[in-house]
Amino acid sequence: MSDFEIRTLGAEEHRAASDLFRETVHFPPADDTEWARAARYYQPGGAIGAFDPEFIGTARSFDAELTVPGGARLPMVGVTSVGVRADRTRRGVLRALMTAQLADFAARGVVFANLLASEAGIYGRFGYGLATRYRAYSVDRRRARLRPDAPVGGELELLDLDRALETCPGVYDRLEHRPGMMTRPEVLWRLYETQARRHTSPVKAVVHHGPGGPDGFAIYFVDGVPAHPWTKTLEVADLFAGSATAFAGLWRFLLGVDLVDRVFADSRPLDDPIELLLADHRSGNVDRIGDEHWIRLVDVPRALAGREYGQAAPVVLEVTDPLLPGNSGAYRVTPDGAERTDRPAGLRLDVTTLAMIYLGTWHPSALADAGRIEVRDPAAPAAADVLFGTRVASWSGSHF
Ligand SMILES: CC(C)(COP(=O)(O)OP(=O)(O)OC[C@H]1O[C@@H](n2cnc3c(N)ncnc32)[C@H](O)[C@@H]1OP(=O)(O)O)[C@@H](O)C(=O)NCCC(=O)NCCS
Repeated sequence: MSDFEIRTLGAEEHRAASDLFRETVHFPPADDTEWARAARYYQPGGAIGAFDPEFIGTARSFDAELTVPGGARLPMVGVTSVGVRADRTRRGVLRALMTAQLADFAARGVVFANLLASEAGIYGRFGYGLATRYRAYSVDRRRARLRPDAPVGGELELLDLDRALETCPGVYDRLEHRPGMMTRPEVLWRLYETQARRHTSPVKAVVHHGPGGPDGFAIYFVDGVPAHPWTKTLEVADLFAGSATAFAGLWRFLLGVDLVDRVFADSRPLDDPIELLLADHRSGNVDRIGDEHWIRLVDVPRALAGREYGQAAPVVLEVTDPLLPGNSGAYRVTPDGAERTDRPAGLRLDVTTLAMIYLGTWHPSALADAGRIEVRDPAAPAAADVLFGTRVASWSGSHF
């Protein structure tokens, strides 16, 4: 076990942090052109490093807001670019980086930290629980038609990438966000811009204009299969719609693009209604269901008080949080809200499992059946399923 120091990086160290992170995920360092763009992903003061005294580990974060059930947007940080040099792994460097980050987030009044995990086994020990899932969906375009009763209306406008980057962020902000969606700060749009500009085929956006103005958009590109250049897939990078009409209109457009065999949307909510719009739902297919955001409740009292609950009998949760012990304790959750209590617990769970039920993605009763929640009151799991349930599936759609 070696000694190391954890500290916040200055802006002049961000490029070395980027190189170090890229090395840990087996990428070459960014060249000057790429770094000119990537430097803008680093929020000032948002990156930390571990030194022994060499630079051996790093993690980065940026500020945003997370939409919780009921619609409130609460302060969150996105955690990303986490890596430890291959010759210094498994000696506690990540643990030290995570502990320093959580202390900083708690001191700054952050309610949630979110991340996308490279491997499922890493982050649960730090209180991050898998809180949203996505499905990848593809449609055989040559076979697919929308049903005749699918909503119709509004206008569609095709934009090139420059105009898309001017227009889509504002549309995204104004749309109603489902639970699990986050605001997209400048650093995130800069990341998406870099990814889009790296594409060999042009990245386009189609914007839907409804009665009150722009109310949805899809960002996409069309790629050929190398051995069969005329076999094309239209890949949907982003699709957000503020109304059923905008959703149907965007899909009608995407399914109407010529010289495309397959439309593929890599990240959609589990309850995405596309197959309900297809005349033959077998023209579409769920290719995969995967993990999306892992969330960490940094401030459990604020997180629990900040969301809405379903109509069921109150349940007392006893939460344990070894890394941020101020969160540990009993909370009474009722249809009117949640607060600390001295009453006896109906369910006992750790803060990681609380993150899994918080956005409604996993049922407390299923986690109890799996042995991950201890049941003290036999009526509590079913009541907690209703209290924590959400009308629509939680999903982020923002990846970093
Ligand atoms: C994942 C990574 C950051 C871990 O760093 P590290 O310094 O070796 O981690 P630590 O030594 O602090 O380990 C902390 C704990 O996590 C566990 N752990 C670390 N990496 C793990 C992995 N890949 N899978 C499962 N558990 C892991 C350790 O066993 C240790 O467990 P303990 O709490 O029971 O002692 C490092 O291996 C790495 O850089 N990997 C490649 C890049 C990457 O995947 N980054 C994450 C991007 S989301």
